Amino acid sequence: MMTIQIAIDGPASAGKSTIAKILANKLNYVYVDTGAMYRAITLAAFNAQIDPNNEQAVSALLPELEITFAPGEPVQRVYLNGQEITDAIRSTAVTANVSAVSSYAAVRSSMTKLQQEIAQTSNVVMDGRDIGTTVLPKAQVKIFLIASVLERAERRFKENQAKGMNTSLAELEAAIEKRDYLDSHREISPLKKADDAVEVDTTGHSIEEVVAIVEAIIADKT
Ligand code: C5P
Repeated sequence: MMTIQIAIDGPASAGKSTIAKILANKLNYVYVDTGAMYRAITLAAFNAQIDPNNEQAVSALLPELEITFAPGEPVQRVYLNGQEITDAIRSTAVTANVSAVSSYAAVRSSMTKLQQEIAQTSNVVMDGRDIGTTVLPKAQVKIFLIASVLERAERRFKENQAKGMNTSLAELEAAIEKRDYLDSHREISPLKKADDAVEVDTTGHSIEEVVAIVEAIIADKT
């Protein structure tokens, strides 16, 4: 089956999932949050009392893990072996350790395979770090979403406050910069703009404005 693939990559907290989810709803495509998959494996390591820096032990968990999604508002619901983990995967501890877990070869190959299988059977809007470069190199539309570090930290700060999480703006800025550094310097499939991706800088733009910009790019490419 010939499917339509829209890849949205970019650094942490650039608004990828918000934009991807809105677009998927409008187009009636499946939204695939690949970051949630890496977060789910990180949480599974914590649940099994495994150190996320232990590549062998984390990799050994993979055959036992089933990650699934269900529609939800304001965010898609995520399940690990049938148990809901939507909020748990957004904890500070998971966020701080997910870059280590996502750098492992076995983790990347099993998640890439899962993501490619989904995109083979459905039209997708898939967001992540390596979708345009590695997972769906033939995607009809590739977007690379960026925003200034300060604006990304401010957006996360507001979201966190609404959830009752009290990390300071400076701490969030540092955490975002660190995660971007690790994600773009890992050996396998680092965070990188695909040569044929269109870069969209969302700094100073509302969600509606960014959706309109990306819709115009999609209309041009499909
Ligand atoms: O998108 P989100 O911030 O939830 O992603 C969490 C982490 O998962 C990233 O910091 C990165 O380490 C990893 N990731 C990845 N490849 C993807 C998506 C996410 O390595 N395609």
